[in-house]
Amino acid sequence: MLGVKIAIGGKGGVGKTTVCAVWAQLFAQDGFDVLAIDADPNTNLALAFGIPSEQSPEPLIKMKQLIAERTGTGKDAVGAYFKLNPKVSDLPEKYWLEVDKTGHGARVTSDLPRRGAGTAGGARLKLLVLGAITQAGAGCACPEGAFLKALLTHTILQRQELVLVDLAAGVEFMGRASVQGIDALVVVVEPGSRSIETAMNIARMGTELGIKNVGAIANKITETAQTDMIRAQLDVDLLASLRYSRAVQQADFERKAVFGADAELVSTLKDAKNKLMDLIGTKETTAT
Ligand SMILES: Nc1ncnc2c1ncn2[C@@H]1O[C@H](COP(=O)(O)OP(=O)(O)OP(=O)(O)O)[C@@H](O)[C@H]1O
Ligand SMILES: [Mg+2]
Repeated sequence: MLGVKIAIGGKGGVGKTTVCAVWAQLFAQDGFDVLAIDADPNTNLALAFGIPSEQSPEPLIKMKQLIAERTGTGKDAVGAYFKLNPKVSDLPEKYWLEVDKTGHGARVTSDLPRRGAGTAGGARLKLLVLGAITQAGAGCACPEGAFLKALLTHTILQRQELVLVDLAAGVEFMGRASVQGIDALVVVVEPGSRSIETAMNIARMGTELGIKNVGAIANKITETAQTDMIRAQLDVDLLASLRYSRAVQQADFERKAVFGADAELVSTLKDAKNKLMDLIGTKETTAT
């Protein structure tokens, strides 16, 4: 059976990476085999897992030689042609990092995280750092674009893991096939019109592209009225309202895993995760 696929979007800085890291750890603790994908041009999901920068993997989008080999744009290539469907199915295993699923440090064992690590079976938490093409070039007809799209399509449509994708903003660059394979799109929103506006646009786009479940998480809330305002303005299910947390901010400063930083935030996100899974399950049951 294919694992559930969840994409997390929202305006810059709202807390997408924070939510993605905590959920990845919670799902792994629930026994899911989790593949967390960093698909943001500024890759920092590794940091949110508490992985030191020197152990942070190089984003696949920066591996020029690999992309050239796979898309057929190496030195022997002729003209400007490149493969639109490069082979990528072997790459997740080669390039993921295994992360400590307890969330209280970066490693499972003394020699983790390491590339392609892990034993067969059992719940694991793996991080694949893809990166993305910066906004100006998003959706470009270039080898990098084809490579990224192929990897996202592969992970979303073919992998058995529960996949969480940390996005730069929305889903439009992913390609129709992979967007339609997403079970749920979750938009993170902080108090403020710009963030709400962006969340609404992303949610609308996701729905138009065929994503069945779209939910929202309000983050960095300092007063109850802010949650009410967000709920009133967004026309998608509000899965959670997370308080502004100095501990979360401090963990970022200290390059510590966000999971161990704030028990209340983790517990609220646990409820949100359960709500989301109910939503996905309910729709699936009613669909059949
Ligand atoms: N509930 C919270 N309370 C306090 N600080 C928070 C909270 N959630 C996130 N932050 C902080 O806000 C900043 C942005 O969070 P995060 O990196 O998760 O957002 P993002 O949406 O992924 O950003 P980007 O668009 O840059 O990828 C970080 O410094 C993070 O520690
Ligand atoms: Mg981020």
